[in-house]
Amino acid sequence: MALWDGRFSEKPTEALTEFSESISFDKRLYKHDIEGSKAHAEMLAEAEIIPRDSAEKIIKGLELVLSKIEENNFDYNAELEDIHMHIENALIAIVGDDGARLHTGRSRNDQIALDIRLYLREEILTVCEGIKEFQKALIGKAEEYKQTLLPGYTHLQRAQPVLFPHQLLAYTEMLERDIERLLDCRKRLNIMPLGSAALAGSTLPLKRNVTARLLNFDRISSNSMDAVADRDFLCELLSGFSIFAMHVSRISEDIILWCSEEFNYIELGDAFCTGSSIMPQKKNPDIAEISRGKTARIYGDLMSILTLLKGLPLTYNRDLQEDKEPVFDAVDNVKKILSVYPSMIASIMVKKENMLKAASDPALMATDLAEKLVELGVPFRIAHHRVGSLVKWCEKNKLKLDNITYEEMLSVIPEANEECLKLFNPEKSISKRNIYGATGYGEVDNQLNFWKKKLN
Ligand code: ARG
Repeated sequence: MALWDGRFSEKPTEALTEFSESISFDKRLYKHDIEGSKAHAEMLAEAEIIPRDSAEKIIKGLELVLSKIEENNFDYNAELEDIHMHIENALIAIVGDDGARLHTGRSRNDQIALDIRLYLREEILTVCEGIKEFQKALIGKAEEYKQTLLPGYTHLQRAQPVLFPHQLLAYTEMLERDIERLLDCRKRLNIMPLGSAALAGSTLPLKRNVTARLLNFDRISSNSMDAVADRDFLCELLSGFSIFAMHVSRISEDIILWCSEEFNYIELGDAFCTGSSIMPQKKNPDIAEISRGKTARIYGDLMSILTLLKGLPLTYNRDLQEDKEPVFDAVDNVKKILSVYPSMIASIMVKKENMLKAASDPALMATDLAEKLVELGVPFRIAHHRVGSLVKWCEKNKLKLDNITYEEMLSVIPEANEECLKLFNPEKSISKRNIYGATGYGEVDNQLNFWKKKLN
Protein backbone atom coordinates (compact mmCIF):
# COMPACT_ATOMS: atom_id res chain seq x y z
CA MET A 1 0.00 0.00 0.00
CA ALA A 2 1.40 3.32 -1.02
CA LEU A 3 1.01 6.31 1.28
CA TRP A 4 -0.82 8.19 -1.46
CA ASP A 5 -3.22 5.47 -2.56
CA GLY A 6 -6.39 6.99 -1.03
CA ARG A 7 -7.80 8.11 -4.38
CA PHE A 8 -6.82 5.02 -6.40
CA SER A 9 -8.82 1.88 -7.03
CA GLU A 10 -6.41 0.02 -9.31
CA LYS A 11 -2.92 -1.16 -8.39
CA PRO A 12 0.00 -0.60 -10.78
CA THR A 13 1.49 -3.72 -12.37
CA GLU A 14 4.88 -4.91 -11.25
CA ALA A 15 6.45 -3.49 -14.39
CA LEU A 16 4.95 -0.07 -13.66
CA THR A 17 6.14 -0.18 -10.08
CA GLU A 18 9.63 -1.12 -11.20
CA PHE A 19 9.53 1.60 -13.81
CA SER A 20 8.68 4.40 -11.44
CA GLU A 21 10.63 3.47 -8.33
CA SER A 22 13.66 5.48 -7.30
CA ILE A 23 14.48 3.73 -4.03
CA SER A 24 17.14 1.65 -5.76
CA PHE A 25 19.24 4.80 -6.15
CA ASP A 26 17.81 7.50 -3.88
CA LYS A 27 18.30 5.32 -0.80
CA ARG A 28 21.70 6.92 -0.51
CA LEU A 29 19.87 10.07 0.68
CA TYR A 30 18.52 8.35 3.83
CA LYS A 31 20.71 10.27 6.27
CA HIS A 32 19.80 13.62 4.81
CA ASP A 33 16.13 12.73 4.52
CA ILE A 34 16.07 11.88 8.21
CA GLU A 35 18.04 14.97 9.16
CA GLY A 36 15.54 17.11 7.25
CA SER A 37 12.55 15.33 8.77
CA LYS A 38 13.85 15.76 12.31
CA ALA A 39 14.23 19.50 11.76
CA HIS A 40 10.80 19.68 10.15
CA ALA A 41 9.20 17.90 13.14
CA GLU A 42 10.99 20.17 15.58
CA MET A 43 9.78 23.22 13.65
CA LEU A 44 6.19 21.91 13.59
CA ALA A 45 6.29 21.67 17.37
CA GLU A 46 7.86 25.11 17.81
CA ALA A 47 5.18 26.59 15.56
CA GLU A 48 2.56 24.72 17.64
CA ILE A 49 1.25 22.97 14.57
CA ILE A 50 1.74 19.54 16.14
CA PRO A 51 2.00 18.65 19.84
CA ARG A 52 5.53 18.78 21.30
CA ASP A 53 5.00 15.24 22.50
CA SER A 54 4.32 13.99 18.96
CA ALA A 55 7.43 15.76 17.67
CA GLU A 56 9.54 14.07 20.29
CA LYS A 57 8.17 10.66 19.37
CA ILE A 58 8.76 11.40 15.71
CA ILE A 59 12.36 12.44 16.34
CA LYS A 60 13.09 9.36 18.43
CA GLY A 61 11.37 7.17 15.83
CA LEU A 62 13.43 8.71 13.04
CA GLU A 63 16.60 8.01 14.99
CA LEU A 64 15.55 4.41 15.28
CA VAL A 65 14.88 4.24 11.55
CA LEU A 66 18.34 5.69 10.96
CA SER A 67 20.04 3.05 13.06
CA LYS A 68 18.02 0.30 11.36
CA ILE A 69 19.16 1.51 7.96
CA GLU A 70 22.76 1.78 9.10
CA GLU A 71 22.66 -1.69 10.62
CA ASN A 72 21.33 -3.07 7.33
CA ASN A 73 18.19 -4.07 9.14
CA PHE A 74 15.79 -2.29 6.81
CA ASP A 75 13.50 -3.59 4.07
CA TYR A 76 13.43 -1.86 0.74
CA ASN A 77 10.40 -2.35 -1.41
CA ALA A 78 9.79 -0.84 -4.84
CA GLU A 79 6.13 -0.35 -3.98
CA LEU A 80 7.16 2.36 -1.55
CA GLU A 81 8.73 4.20 -4.47
CA ASP A 82 11.36 6.36 -2.88
CA ILE A 83 13.43 7.02 0.22
CA HIS A 84 10.91 9.55 1.56
CA MET A 85 8.06 7.04 1.65
CA HIS A 86 10.27 4.30 3.02
CA ILE A 87 11.31 6.38 5.97
CA GLU A 88 7.85 7.80 6.66
CA ASN A 89 6.34 4.33 6.41
CA ALA A 90 8.89 2.87 8.80
CA LEU A 91 8.33 5.76 11.18
CA ILE A 92 4.58 5.22 11.26
CA ALA A 93 5.13 1.52 11.82
CA ILE A 94 7.24 2.40 14.89
CA VAL A 95 5.38 5.31 16.48
CA GLY A 96 1.87 5.00 15.00
CA ASP A 97 -0.41 8.03 14.59
CA ASP A 98 2.13 10.54 15.88
CA GLY A 99 4.29 9.54 12.93
CA ALA A 100 1.41 10.38 10.62
CA ARG A 101 1.84 14.04 11.65
CA LEU A 102 5.36 14.36 10.20
CA HIS A 103 4.39 15.16 6.62
CA THR A 104 2.32 18.18 7.73
CA GLY A 105 2.93 21.22 5.51
CA ARG A 106 5.40 19.28 3.41
CA SER A 107 5.43 17.60 0.01
CA ARG A 108 7.92 15.22 -1.45
CA ASN A 109 8.56 18.00 -3.93
CA ASP A 110 10.15 20.31 -1.39
CA GLN A 111 11.47 17.31 0.54
CA ILE A 112 13.58 16.03 -2.35
CA ALA A 113 14.74 19.58 -3.11
CA LEU A 114 15.93 19.73 0.49
CA ASP A 115 17.53 16.28 0.57
CA ILE A 116 19.60 16.76 -2.54
CA ARG A 117 20.83 20.12 -1.26
CA LEU A 118 21.78 18.63 2.12
CA TYR A 119 23.54 15.75 0.41
CA LEU A 120 25.49 17.87 -2.06
CA ARG A 121 26.35 20.51 0.49
CA GLU A 122 28.32 17.80 2.27
CA GLU A 123 29.75 16.10 -0.82
CA ILE A 124 31.07 19.39 -2.17
CA LEU A 125 33.18 19.84 0.95
CA THR A 126 34.45 16.28 0.70
CA VAL A 127 35.39 16.81 -2.94
CA CYS A 128 37.12 20.11 -2.13
CA GLU A 129 39.14 18.36 0.58
CA GLY A 130 40.11 15.74 -1.99
CA ILE A 131 41.20 18.39 -4.46
CA LYS A 132 43.29 19.96 -1.72
CA GLU A 133 45.06 16.62 -1.22
CA PHE A 134 45.70 16.56 -4.96
CA GLN A 135 47.25 20.02 -4.70
CA LYS A 136 49.38 18.92 -1.76
CA ALA A 137 50.71 16.00 -3.78
CA LEU A 138 51.67 18.38 -6.60
CA ILE A 139 53.43 20.74 -4.20
CA GLY A 140 55.21 17.81 -2.56
CA LYS A 141 56.49 16.65 -5.92
CA ALA A 142 57.53 20.20 -6.81
CA GLU A 143 59.54 20.41 -3.58
CA GLU A 144 61.20 17.10 -4.37
CA TYR A 145 62.36 18.31 -7.79
CA LYS A 146 62.86 21.96 -7.00
CA GLN A 147 65.77 22.50 -9.40
CA THR A 148 64.60 20.18 -12.17
CA LEU A 149 63.86 21.68 -15.54
CA LEU A 150 62.25 20.52 -18.73
CA PRO A 151 61.15 22.10 -21.99
CA GLY A 152 57.79 23.81 -21.76
CA TYR A 153 55.70 23.06 -24.85
CA THR A 154 53.47 25.04 -27.16
CA HIS A 155 51.80 23.21 -30.06
CA LEU A 156 53.42 20.17 -28.45
CA GLN A 157 56.73 21.50 -29.79
CA ARG A 158 59.58 22.23 -27.42
CA ALA A 159 59.32 25.95 -26.70
CA GLN A 160 61.33 27.27 -23.75
CA PRO A 161 62.92 25.78 -20.64
CA VAL A 162 60.79 25.91 -17.51
CA LEU A 163 61.16 24.55 -14.03
CA PHE A 164 59.31 21.28 -13.52
CA PRO A 165 57.77 22.76 -10.35
CA HIS A 166 56.45 25.62 -12.46
CA GLN A 167 54.38 23.18 -14.49
CA LEU A 168 53.19 21.39 -11.34
CA LEU A 169 52.18 24.78 -9.95
CA ALA A 170 50.20 25.43 -13.13
CA TYR A 171 48.15 22.32 -12.31
CA THR A 172 47.78 23.57 -8.74
CA GLU A 173 46.30 26.83 -10.04
CA MET A 174 43.82 24.94 -12.22
CA LEU A 175 42.68 22.91 -9.24
CA GLU A 176 42.34 26.02 -7.10
CA ARG A 177 39.85 27.45 -9.60
CA ASP A 178 37.94 24.17 -9.38
CA ILE A 179 37.64 24.54 -5.62
CA GLU A 180 36.50 28.15 -6.01
CA ARG A 181 33.84 27.15 -8.54
CA LEU A 182 32.51 24.37 -6.33
CA LEU A 183 32.37 26.57 -3.26
CA ASP A 184 30.63 29.25 -5.27
CA CYS A 185 28.04 26.73 -6.41
CA ARG A 186 27.61 25.72 -2.78
CA LYS A 187 26.46 29.25 -1.93
CA ARG A 188 23.45 28.96 -4.23
CA LEU A 189 22.84 25.45 -3.02
CA ASN A 190 22.80 26.37 0.66
CA ILE A 191 19.23 27.70 0.57
CA MET A 192 16.41 26.00 2.45
CA PRO A 193 13.40 25.04 0.26
CA LEU A 194 11.16 23.40 2.89
CA GLY A 195 7.84 25.20 3.36
CA SER A 196 7.37 25.43 -0.39
CA ALA A 197 5.36 22.22 -0.05
CA ALA A 198 4.01 20.96 -3.39
CA LEU A 199 4.52 24.31 -5.14
CA ALA A 200 2.38 26.96 -3.48
CA GLY A 201 3.59 27.04 0.11
CA SER A 202 1.26 26.13 2.96
CA THR A 203 -1.82 27.46 4.74
CA LEU A 204 -0.17 26.43 8.01
CA PRO A 205 2.03 28.95 9.87
CA LEU A 206 5.28 27.11 9.20
CA LYS A 207 8.33 28.78 10.72
CA ARG A 208 10.67 28.37 7.83
CA ASN A 209 13.51 30.28 9.46
CA VAL A 210 13.47 27.83 12.35
CA THR A 211 13.97 24.88 9.99
CA ALA A 212 16.71 26.79 8.17
CA ARG A 213 18.48 27.51 11.44
CA LEU A 214 18.21 23.91 12.62
CA LEU A 215 19.67 22.70 9.35
CA ASN A 216 22.30 25.40 9.17
CA PHE A 217 21.19 26.98 5.92
CA ASP A 218 22.29 30.48 4.93
CA ARG A 219 18.73 31.51 4.07
CA ILE A 220 15.30 30.31 2.98
CA SER A 221 14.07 30.22 -0.62
CA SER A 222 11.93 33.22 -1.64
CA ASN A 223 9.58 31.61 -4.14
CA SER A 224 7.87 28.30 -3.56
CA MET A 225 7.41 27.57 -7.27
CA ASP A 226 11.06 28.20 -8.02
CA ALA A 227 12.16 26.21 -4.98
CA VAL A 228 10.52 22.94 -6.07
CA ALA A 229 11.44 23.33 -9.74
CA ASP A 230 14.99 24.66 -9.42
CA ARG A 231 17.83 22.33 -10.29
CA ASP A 232 20.24 25.06 -11.44
CA PHE A 233 22.63 24.05 -8.70
CA LEU A 234 22.97 20.63 -10.35
CA CYS A 235 23.94 22.28 -13.64
CA GLU A 236 26.45 24.44 -11.81
CA LEU A 237 27.85 21.56 -9.83
CA LEU A 238 28.21 19.28 -12.83
CA SER A 239 29.76 22.13 -14.81
CA GLY A 240 32.27 22.52 -12.00
CA PHE A 241 32.87 18.77 -11.99
CA SER A 242 33.21 18.74 -15.77
CA ILE A 243 35.83 21.47 -15.71
CA PHE A 244 37.66 19.63 -12.95
CA ALA A 245 37.53 16.42 -15.00
CA MET A 246 38.76 18.32 -18.04
CA HIS A 247 41.73 19.49 -15.94
CA VAL A 248 42.37 15.92 -14.85
CA SER A 249 42.31 14.81 -18.46
CA ARG A 250 44.89 17.44 -19.42
CA ILE A 251 47.18 16.56 -16.54
CA SER A 252 46.73 12.89 -17.39
CA GLU A 253 47.64 13.54 -21.00
CA ASP A 254 50.91 15.22 -19.96
CA ILE A 255 51.69 12.33 -17.64
CA ILE A 256 50.90 9.76 -20.33
CA LEU A 257 53.11 11.56 -22.84
CA TRP A 258 55.95 11.92 -20.34
CA CYS A 259 55.78 8.17 -19.62
CA SER A 260 56.13 7.31 -23.29
CA GLU A 261 59.43 6.13 -24.74
CA GLU A 262 59.32 9.20 -26.99
CA PHE A 263 59.49 11.63 -24.06
CA ASN A 264 60.87 9.32 -21.38
CA TYR A 265 60.69 12.06 -18.72
CA ILE A 266 59.05 10.22 -15.85
CA GLU A 267 58.17 6.83 -14.48
CA LEU A 268 55.10 6.08 -12.40
CA GLY A 269 55.08 3.69 -9.47
CA ASP A 270 54.38 0.13 -10.57
CA ALA A 271 51.14 0.08 -8.60
CA PHE A 272 49.72 2.76 -10.90
CA CYS A 273 50.48 0.91 -14.10
CA THR A 274 49.29 -2.27 -15.71
CA GLY A 275 51.01 -4.78 -17.95
CA SER A 276 49.81 -6.04 -21.28
CA SER A 277 48.25 -9.49 -21.58
CA ILE A 278 50.33 -10.12 -24.69
CA MET A 279 53.36 -7.80 -24.71
CA PRO A 280 55.59 -8.68 -21.75
CA GLN A 281 57.62 -5.47 -21.92
CA LYS A 282 54.67 -3.08 -21.49
CA LYS A 283 54.09 -0.81 -18.50
CA ASN A 284 50.97 1.19 -19.24
CA PRO A 285 49.82 4.30 -17.35
CA ASP A 286 46.28 2.95 -16.92
CA ILE A 287 45.27 5.02 -13.90
CA ALA A 288 45.99 8.23 -15.78
CA GLU A 289 44.19 6.86 -18.84
CA ILE A 290 41.10 5.77 -16.91
CA SER A 291 40.99 9.16 -15.23
CA ARG A 292 41.20 10.85 -18.63
CA GLY A 293 38.43 8.52 -19.80
CA LYS A 294 36.16 9.32 -16.85
CA THR A 295 35.97 12.89 -18.10
CA ALA A 296 33.64 11.65 -20.85
CA ARG A 297 30.99 10.26 -18.51
CA ILE A 298 31.13 13.33 -16.28
CA TYR A 299 30.45 15.53 -19.33
CA GLY A 300 27.64 13.08 -20.14
CA ASP A 301 26.18 13.55 -16.67
CA LEU A 302 26.15 17.32 -17.19
CA MET A 303 24.45 16.87 -20.57
CA SER A 304 21.82 14.62 -18.97
CA ILE A 305 20.87 17.28 -16.44
CA LEU A 306 20.83 20.14 -18.95
CA THR A 307 18.70 18.10 -21.32
CA LEU A 308 16.42 16.94 -18.51
CA LEU A 309 15.67 20.55 -17.59
CA LYS A 310 15.32 21.92 -21.10
CA GLY A 311 11.73 22.96 -21.77
CA LEU A 312 10.48 21.47 -18.51
CA PRO A 313 7.40 23.48 -17.46
CA LEU A 314 7.12 24.79 -13.93
CA THR A 315 7.01 23.44 -11.36
CA TYR A 316 7.87 19.93 -10.20
CA ASN A 317 7.63 17.20 -12.81
CA ARG A 318 8.43 13.59 -12.22
CA ASP A 319 11.12 13.87 -14.87
CA LEU A 320 13.17 15.41 -12.09
CA GLN A 321 13.54 12.01 -10.48
CA GLU A 322 15.94 11.28 -13.33
CA ASP A 323 18.36 13.90 -12.01
CA LYS A 324 19.68 11.61 -9.27
CA GLU A 325 21.64 9.00 -11.17
CA PRO A 326 23.72 11.41 -13.27
CA VAL A 327 24.48 13.49 -10.19
CA PHE A 328 25.43 10.45 -8.13
CA ASP A 329 27.51 9.11 -11.01
CA ALA A 330 29.41 12.39 -11.29
CA VAL A 331 29.97 12.62 -7.51
CA ASP A 332 31.15 9.01 -7.36
CA ASN A 333 33.52 9.31 -10.26
CA VAL A 334 35.03 12.60 -9.18
CA LYS A 335 35.64 11.00 -5.79
CA LYS A 336 37.11 7.91 -7.42
CA ILE A 337 39.58 10.04 -9.35
CA LEU A 338 40.50 11.86 -6.16
CA SER A 339 41.00 8.58 -4.32
CA VAL A 340 43.86 7.55 -6.61
CA TYR A 341 45.32 10.66 -8.17
CA PRO A 342 47.30 12.21 -5.30
CA SER A 343 49.16 8.99 -4.60
CA MET A 344 49.84 8.52 -8.29
CA ILE A 345 51.37 12.01 -8.39
CA ALA A 346 53.43 11.14 -5.33
CA SER A 347 54.76 8.04 -7.12
CA ILE A 348 56.24 10.01 -10.04
CA MET A 349 59.96 9.45 -10.50
CA VAL A 350 61.54 12.06 -12.70
CA LYS A 351 64.32 11.26 -15.16
CA LYS A 352 66.05 14.57 -14.62
CA GLU A 353 68.83 14.01 -17.16
CA ASN A 354 66.33 13.36 -19.94
CA MET A 355 64.36 16.46 -19.11
CA LEU A 356 67.52 18.54 -18.90
CA LYS A 357 68.83 17.16 -22.16
CA ALA A 358 65.59 18.04 -23.94
CA ALA A 359 65.62 21.53 -22.41
CA SER A 360 69.24 22.15 -23.40
CA ASP A 361 68.69 22.53 -27.13
CA PRO A 362 70.09 26.05 -27.69
CA ALA A 363 67.23 26.79 -30.06
CA LEU A 364 64.96 26.96 -26.99
CA MET A 365 66.94 30.03 -25.89
CA ALA A 366 66.41 31.93 -29.16
CA THR A 367 63.90 34.21 -27.44
CA ASP A 368 66.47 34.97 -24.75
CA LEU A 369 68.80 36.21 -27.47
CA ALA A 370 66.09 38.40 -29.01
CA GLU A 371 65.36 39.88 -25.57
CA LYS A 372 69.08 40.47 -25.04
CA LEU A 373 69.11 42.49 -28.24
CA VAL A 374 66.16 44.50 -26.90
CA GLU A 375 68.30 45.31 -23.86
CA LEU A 376 70.96 46.49 -26.30
CA GLY A 377 68.45 48.89 -27.84
CA VAL A 378 67.21 46.90 -30.83
CA PRO A 379 63.44 47.13 -31.45
CA PHE A 380 61.90 43.73 -30.71
CA ARG A 381 60.52 43.06 -34.20
CA ILE A 382 63.96 43.67 -35.69
CA ALA A 383 65.61 41.59 -32.97
CA HIS A 384 63.16 38.75 -33.67
CA HIS A 385 63.99 38.94 -37.38
CA ARG A 386 67.74 38.97 -36.72
CA VAL A 387 67.58 35.90 -34.49
CA GLY A 388 65.37 34.14 -37.04
CA SER A 389 68.03 34.80 -39.66
CA LEU A 390 70.69 33.42 -37.33
CA VAL A 391 68.67 30.24 -36.80
CA LYS A 392 68.37 29.89 -40.57
CA TRP A 393 72.09 30.53 -41.01
CA CYS A 394 72.90 27.86 -38.41
CA GLU A 395 70.63 25.36 -40.12
CA LYS A 396 72.26 26.03 -43.47
CA ASN A 397 75.75 25.63 -41.98
CA LYS A 398 74.74 22.64 -39.86
CA LEU A 399 75.74 24.42 -36.65
CA LYS A 400 74.04 24.81 -33.31
CA LEU A 401 73.34 28.31 -31.96
CA ASP A 402 75.78 27.76 -29.11
CA ASN A 403 78.50 26.57 -31.44
CA ILE A 404 79.26 29.64 -33.52
CA THR A 405 82.01 32.21 -33.21
CA TYR A 406 81.46 35.83 -32.26
CA GLU A 407 82.37 36.88 -35.80
CA GLU A 408 79.79 34.51 -37.24
CA MET A 409 77.14 35.93 -34.97
CA LEU A 410 78.12 39.49 -35.86
CA SER A 411 77.86 38.67 -39.53
CA VAL A 412 74.11 38.07 -39.05
CA ILE A 413 73.41 40.26 -35.99
CA PRO A 414 75.55 43.39 -36.16
CA GLU A 415 74.11 44.69 -32.83
CA ALA A 416 75.25 41.59 -30.85
CA ASN A 417 77.88 41.76 -28.11
CA GLU A 418 79.94 38.92 -26.63
CA GLU A 419 77.38 38.23 -23.92
CA CYS A 420 75.03 37.11 -26.68
CA LEU A 421 77.16 34.00 -27.08
CA LYS A 422 76.60 32.95 -23.49
CA LEU A 423 72.82 32.80 -23.36
CA PHE A 424 72.34 29.24 -24.52
CA ASN A 425 72.10 27.56 -21.17
CA PRO A 426 68.69 26.52 -19.82
CA GLU A 427 69.56 27.22 -16.16
CA LYS A 428 70.70 30.69 -17.10
CA SER A 429 67.55 31.22 -19.12
CA ILE A 430 65.39 30.29 -16.13
CA SER A 431 67.41 32.34 -13.68
CA LYS A 432 66.70 35.47 -15.74
CA ARG A 433 62.91 35.11 -15.69
CA ASN A 434 62.35 36.99 -12.52
CA ILE A 435 59.08 38.79 -12.95
CA TYR A 436 56.02 37.78 -10.95
CA GLY A 437 54.43 34.67 -12.41
CA ALA A 438 57.47 33.66 -14.46
CA THR A 439 59.51 30.48 -14.14
CA GLY A 440 62.57 32.04 -12.43
CA TYR A 441 64.01 30.09 -9.48
CA GLY A 442 63.14 32.79 -6.97
CA GLU A 443 59.64 33.30 -8.30
CA VAL A 444 58.82 29.62 -8.31
CA ASP A 445 60.20 29.34 -4.81
CA ASN A 446 57.93 32.17 -3.67
CA GLN A 447 54.96 30.43 -5.22
CA LEU A 448 55.87 27.15 -3.58
CA ASN A 449 56.06 28.87 -0.22
CA PHE A 450 52.72 30.53 -0.83
CA TRP A 451 51.05 27.21 -1.59
CA LYS A 452 52.70 25.36 1.27
CA LYS A 453 51.31 27.95 3.67
CA LYS A 454 47.90 28.00 2.04
CA LEU A 455 47.46 24.24 2.04
CA ASN A 456 48.38 23.77 5.69
N1 ARG B 1 11.34 10.43 -6.02
C1 ARG B 1 10.93 11.76 -6.37
C2 ARG B 1 12.10 12.49 -7.02
O1 ARG B 1 13.18 12.03 -6.93
C3 ARG B 1 10.52 12.49 -5.13
C4 ARG B 1 9.48 13.51 -5.38
C5 ARG B 1 8.23 12.86 -5.82
N2 ARG B 1 7.15 13.76 -5.91
C6 ARG B 1 6.01 13.41 -6.45
N3 ARG B 1 5.06 14.26 -6.45
N4 ARG B 1 5.82 12.23 -6.96
O2 ARG B 1 11.95 13.53 -7.64
